[in-house]
Order: sequence, then structure tokens, then C-alpha cells
Amino acid sequence: MPTMGAFHDGHLSLMRTARSECDVVLVSLFVNPTQFGPDEDYHRYPRDESEDASLASDIAIDFLFAPSNEEMYPPGFACVIDPGPAGQGLCGAHRPGHFTGVATVVARLLGIVAPDVTYFGLKDFQQVAVVRRVVADLAIPVEIRALSTVREPDGLAMSSRNRLLEPEARERAAALFAGLRGAVERYAEGERSPARLTAVVRSIVGEAGLDLEYVDVRDAETLGSYTPERSAVLAIAARVDGTRLIDNVVLVPSGNVVPGRVSRPWAGGTA
Ligand code: PAJ
Repeated sequence: MPTMGAFHDGHLSLMRTARSECDVVLVSLFVNPTQFGPDEDYHRYPRDESEDASLASDIAIDFLFAPSNEEMYPPGFACVIDPGPAGQGLCGAHRPGHFTGVATVVARLLGIVAPDVTYFGLKDFQQVAVVRRVVADLAIPVEIRALSTVREPDGLAMSSRNRLLEPEARERAAALFAGLRGAVERYAEGERSPARLTAVVRSIVGEAGLDLEYVDVRDAETLGSYTPERSAVLAIAARVDGTRLIDNVVLVPSGNVVPGRVSRPWAGGTA
């Protein structure tokens, strides 16, 4: 299971699933410099390796692999993987080179560890699409398990970057999921217009004073154009006091699925 550390319950839930499904579990911890842009938060990214080691050992993870930059990118390292269209829209459009960095480091980690199964979270929906592309195109013999988003009680998707938020900003950050939830409710009532669905999100996120980067509805499988007959992903990225957060929900024509372990009344019978 690849990670960049600063473990929270989202990471730990993936690790617990891996623990229950696999004989041997290896978690990698590497804050990958090549997936951060020059003006992004690589240096500010939260790091707490000893706390992470203790959390991983609490759930009986067999190996915590925490390589150095030199081990991951030794002298002479030259190959990069461009994942193509899967990495171009949504976050890819706003973070040039990000998914090339992700695709390359994930391929290298899979090469080093050679696991039978690898675990990813659907909170990073586009990342999962990119990894699927890489694994298929490079014929990497691994099964991908993509698991639901784990959320805070107010709906905010758990993220290592949530630690960077001051209490007031943390409170406002709940508007990301509140916006998505508002659109899910409209979708459940039959709304299928992407413009009207994203308008619901814009209005809720705008009221909370968040700086919206994008909100978009794409085909859930291809990340290409949305067609109402097929499942879609409604994805958002916004800044809260300078910290960039992302979230998404999957819209299924035959009934809504809100990813995440949610037990709020509005979640109704969703899975
Ligand atoms: P990181 O952000 O540390 O996330 C590690 C894994 O945990 C990813 O698969 C991510 O989707 C998952 N995850 C994070 N928050 C989650 C949540 N709230 N619920 C469920 N799963 C969650 O994603 C990365 O690291 C990096 O890009 C990486 C894949 C390690 C490559 O460097």
C-alpha cells in the first residue's frame, strides 16, 4: 500500500482491509517530490515517521518501507511515465506533471515490492484511474483494490493536509462535502444537468468562502465526457486558507453511492 505518511483513519482503514485480506502487508511511506509542483506544499507536507511507525505496528503491518529520495531516484534515474488522458483533466489540468510523478513512483514501488494486490483510496479518484491505466498498459501483474473514502463526522474526507488547517478553516472545509451532498440530493431527485449539479456545489462552497479550483462531472470509468445513462464522478478541488483539498462522489443512474463510511441520517440507504 503506497502512502506519503502522516497517517489518519483513511490510511489506517485501507491498512486494516489489507491486513485482513493478505498474508503479508507492506506499507510504503515516501513523500514523493516529483508529484509536487514548484509552488506546491512539498516542504510543508506533514511528516511524522515515528508516529506513523507506531500506528502501523498497532495494526500489525509487517513492513513499513520508508526509502530515501536517493533510493527512489538514484543517480542516472531517467524514465518517467506519462499516463495520457487519464491524467489530464480535473486535478491534472491544475497540477501539471502531478500524475506523471504519481504514475512513475507507483510503477517503481510496484516494481520494488512486486505485490499480488495493491490498495488505493477512492478519495483520490483520478489517481486510481491513472494507476489502473499504468498497470494495464505496462502489464504489471498486480490486482488493484480501490476502497471507499473515509470521512470525519461532518463529512470532510480525511486527508493528511487536514492537519494544516486552523480550527476556523477546518470548520469551513466541511463545505466541500456539503456541496457534493447537495448535488447528490438533486441527482437523486432526477437532476441530470452537469451545469445545474455543479451550480449547487458552487453555491454551497462559495457561501463558505472557499476558493474553488474546479468542480466537474465526468464519466466515472473513462473520466471523459459525462453521459446521463452512465455512472459519473462529481469531483471538486478547493483551497481553504491556502490548503488544497479534493473530494468526490460517484453518481449512479440507478441509485446514489456516496463513497465513504458515512453514518449520517442524510446518507440514507447509500453504500
Ligand atoms: P497519500 O495521500 O498518503 O494516500 C495514500 C493512500 O491512502 C491513497 O491511495 C489515498 O487515496 C488513500 N487515502 C487517503 N485519504 C483517504 C481517505 N480519506 N479515505 C480512503 N483512502 C484514503 O495518494 C498518495 O499518498 C500518493 O499520491 C501515492 C499514491 C502514495 C504516490 O506517491
